Amino acid sequence: MRRSLFIILFTCASVSLRGQTFHDIEPILLTKCSGCHKPGEAGPFPLLKYEDFTKRLNFIKEVVSTGYMPPWRADTLYSCFANQRGLTAEEKTKILAWIDNKAPKGKASKDKPVTNTAANKRAPDLVLKYPASFLVKGNNKERFIEFKVPFELPAEKSIEAVEFVTNNRKIIHHINYGFYNVPDNAIDVHAGTNIINTDEEIEKRGAFDHYKQQMVYYTGWIPGSSTEYYPNEFGWTLPRRGVVIFTTHYAAIAADEESVIGVNLYFKDAPIKRPVRIISLGSGGVGERDIDPIFMIPPNEERTFTLKMKTPEEQSLLYVWPHMHFLGKSFEAYVVTPAGDTIRLINIPQWDFRWQELYRFKKPVRIPRGSIIYMKGTYDNTKNNPLNPNNPPKFVFSRGSMKSEDEMFTLLLIYAQYQAGDELMELE
Ligand code: HEC
Repeated sequence: MRRSLFIILFTCASVSLRGQTFHDIEPILLTKCSGCHKPGEAGPFPLLKYEDFTKRLNFIKEVVSTGYMPPWRADTLYSCFANQRGLTAEEKTKILAWIDNKAPKGKASKDKPVTNTAANKRAPDLVLKYPASFLVKGNNKERFIEFKVPFELPAEKSIEAVEFVTNNRKIIHHINYGFYNVPDNAIDVHAGTNIINTDEEIEKRGAFDHYKQQMVYYTGWIPGSSTEYYPNEFGWTLPRRGVVIFTTHYAAIAADEESVIGVNLYFKDAPIKRPVRIISLGSGGVGERDIDPIFMIPPNEERTFTLKMKTPEEQSLLYVWPHMHFLGKSFEAYVVTPAGDTIRLINIPQWDFRWQELYRFKKPVRIPRGSIIYMKGTYDNTKNNPLNPNNPPKFVFSRGSMKSEDEMFTLLLIYAQYQAGDELMELE
């Protein structure tokens, strides 16, 4: 029998091609632009109202048609994500047609404007901020500062979303933070050291260790990333009492800057039935020594590395979060199941350090037990890479220090234990 060949048109969202007034395309603009182009966010000006857009039509036409905005570096033909910022071909056509048609306003519809996630619709339920601003000296040195922020609540809380907040994103290379349960009342969560400059204050190192006995969850922030949100019954539980420890990696800067850091927490009422976990594969995580070849990048070379990891349990994957530094060129991850099926996770054909993301799937991705996760990363340590921190290029490797002149080849996975029917579940 002859096999027929199907051509499958693969798009991440379907949009009906109706009229082209502002109010018709407003939901697209609000979801795909306004999240960053609003006060306090990364975008340099607001894009919220009709006039905000009409003031800059030519500019918007340019950034939309070139694909410069919205910034989204994952290949949308490879895999789909719920938090995708990129425009589909139809969305792009609609916006450009509206601009070419002299941007009519049209009539407002009764439908409510769309926003990205539940977390963006309301104010946070709890803000855990370091109470003082930290002066990052402009001496062209990177530094790693740990901040401790205590919390004491009447009861434990179910977490729906976490969002890192800061007054000054551009000086942060990345940040990791962990939530620790401190049930022992003999340990005062408010007392003692609250801040450690890990490079200079040798004697203070370890001052937080007695809080670190019971880590409940950890996560992080990297340039470009947004809220970490757990739909449906997924999430984790914040204990009644404990501390958050932020490990902040500040970039080397030339002039003094102030930095305030913290995390917004969003609660949900129901207890968490599906606890999420996070695991880090590759440098700084599981399988660091199995990276093939050994993770070193000689000067004036482009080099590709791979890592294969076996999954010990059946999982429902909610997020993938690839991480590399400035030599990163491309990143791909996929899974091969014991039955031989391939599940594509993520492909970033042109790595861009400025725009990284925790990529949230539209449906939980079922990873059968015994599957192999494949990671593949290519690095460009030549002088053709404009972001290469070394000129002339130097020998680069991963020393576990996470300094930006070192490299990383890491994939973080946020997942829960698989339950029957997960793969059919729609995640918001
Ligand atoms: C993830 C955050 C984010 C989203 C989403 C986003 N922008 Fe931006 N936008 C930025 C940042 C940051 C800048 C300034 C830095 C830059 O130009 O790269 C910017 C710059 C711009 C500029 C100026 C470009 C320049 O060359 O100076 C325009 C115009 C723009 N955005 C339009 C849009 C439109 C239209 C959308 C939606 C279709 C959008 N942006 C979505 C973050 C965002």
